[in-house]
Amino acid sequence: HGYDLLVVGSANADLVIGLDRRPGPGETVLGSDLVIHPGGKGANQAAAAARLGARTTLLARVGADAYGRMLAEAQRAAGAALSGLLIGAAKTPGTVAKDGTGGAEEGKDAPPTGVALITVDAAGDNSIVVSPGANGRLTPDDVAAAHDLFAAAAVVSLQLEIPLETVTAAAQAAAEHGARLVLNPSPPARLPEDVLALCDPLVVNEHEARLLLDGQSPGAGPEEWATALLALGPRSVVVTLGAEGALVAGPAVGAEVTDGIGMARVPSPRVRAVDTTGAGDAFTGALGWRLGRGDGLEEAVRYAVRVGALAVTRPGAQESYPSAEEVGTAGQESAE
Ligand code: RIB
Ligand code: NA
Repeated sequence: HGYDLLVVGSANADLVIGLDRRPGPGETVLGSDLVIHPGGKGANQAAAAARLGARTTLLARVGADAYGRMLAEAQRAAGAALSGLLIGAAKTPGTVAKDGTGGAEEGKDAPPTGVALITVDAAGDNSIVVSPGANGRLTPDDVAAAHDLFAAAAVVSLQLEIPLETVTAAAQAAAEHGARLVLNPSPPARLPEDVLALCDPLVVNEHEARLLLDGQSPGAGPEEWATALLALGPRSVVVTLGAEGALVAGPAVGAEVTDGIGMARVPSPRVRAVDTTGAGDAFTGALGWRLGRGDGLEEAVRYAVRVGALAVTRPGAQESYPSAEEVGTAGQESAE
């Protein structure tokens, strides 16, 4: 495979303000100076994987504007190929020049780069509002035009900051080309059955699990959610548990529970959280890369948990992602 991982998704400029307490309706509070970081769930995953050494590219659309250039440069700096990036109204992926500037086919109705307005509180927790911009114009036609990338990819990773019809087209393209599909339904939304059936794994946090299960969640714990989620059709499930690590459920995982399906808890190294923004994306990007290189699911999750833990110890999303060297030594003492 030419690529361990193809990420299809969003790229956003993250406009971040730190504050002590979020304002309520009609209220104004003062925060820190504004900081602008490269972000977006898709771009974050590709940057995380590339920084770890993955051969990866991001199929995404950005505006022909300063934020779009920032995002292209961040992908390049992380080590991702720019062959999937669409700029402005471009129809052909990879028309971006090496410096992230040229090659854009601009049109009058070319949309601006997506923006995320983010507040981070004293505990390191964030709230995010996304304006999709160009991400909303990534279409099934763009997926079709990028079939070379799908043909070259071992794993395809998806999130939900692009139109659902594009997610569906990308999932089908992955299946047609025999690529393994990783999907994180974030921001959470209901998924078509045929897309769910292709996920291997479906990656969810508690919030996303509850939404997908919509009241039919039988029990209180991650094991029960995983069982109920598997009943929706994915081949495997990973439930991320923040500081508690993750739960993996699928064939050949941990101890068998039923019908060849097993489960395993994977603990996280203990870290001091500074900014959790994009830590889930780092986890999922790392997971996709390790699966693309041939790791088993449980093994890949053990690695990805350490990547996610390191990402919360530094501010920002992409800028906080660790190198393989850092991950190599991190948290060994607390991983059993
Ligand atoms: O998951 C974190 C990301 O969500 C941020 O980078 C922001 O852009 C939003 O997409
Ligand atoms: Na971070």
